[in-house]
Amino acid sequence: MRLLTTLTGAVALAMALLTFPVSAETPEELFEIHCAACHNSGGIGNPGLAPPLNRPAFWQALGDKAPEYIAGVVTSGMAGKLEIQGQMYIGLIMPPVASTTDEELVEIGTWVLQTLGETDGVLTQELLDTARETRPTHADLRAMRPAVD
Ligand code: HEC
Repeated sequence: MRLLTTLTGAVALAMALLTFPVSAETPEELFEIHCAACHNSGGIGNPGLAPPLNRPAFWQALGDKAPEYIAGVVTSGMAGKLEIQGQMYIGLIMPPVASTTDEELVEIGTWVLQTLGETDGVLTQELLDTARETRPTHADLRAMRPAVD
C-alpha cells in the first residue's frame, strides 16, 4: 500500500513536471522582474538613472544589428555617457544580466526588440553565445549605437 502511494505520487509529480511550461512568466513579466527595477515598468526609463528602451526609432535605426547589440548589452553590461532624448545617463552602470536563464534572456530580448522596438528582430541563444565569446567592450557597444534617440 505504501509502495502504491509512493508510485502514485511519483507519477503525479512526473505529470506535473511534463505539463508545466519551462517558465511560468510571460516575456513582459520577465522584463518586469529582471529589468524594470532600473528601466521602469514597460521600459519607459528612469530619467537620469536608466534609459527608456521603448524607442522604436533607435531600434529600427540599428536594423540588422539590433539583436547583436542587445546580446552585447545584456552579456557585457553597459556603462559610460549616453545622451538619450535630452537626458544624460552617466552615473549608473548596468551590470551583465546574471539573474535569468538564457532561455529567459532570449524571451526578454526578443520582447524588447519586437514590442518596445517595433522591429522583427529576434534575440537567439547563438547571439548570446557569440557575444560571450567576443566580449564586446562598452566602447564597442557605444560605437554600434546609431545617432538616433
Ligand atoms: C541595475 C540597473 C539595470 C538593470 C537591472 C538593467 N539595466 Fe539596462 N541599463 C542600465 C543603465 C544604467 C544603462 C545605461 C548605461 C550607460 O549609461 O552607458 C542601461 C542600458 C541598457 C541598454 C542600452 C540602451 C541604449 O540606448 O543603448 C539596453 C538595451 C538595456 N539596458 C537593456 C536591459 C535589459 C533587457 C535588462 C533586463 C534583462 C536590463 N537592461 C537590466 C541599467 C540596468
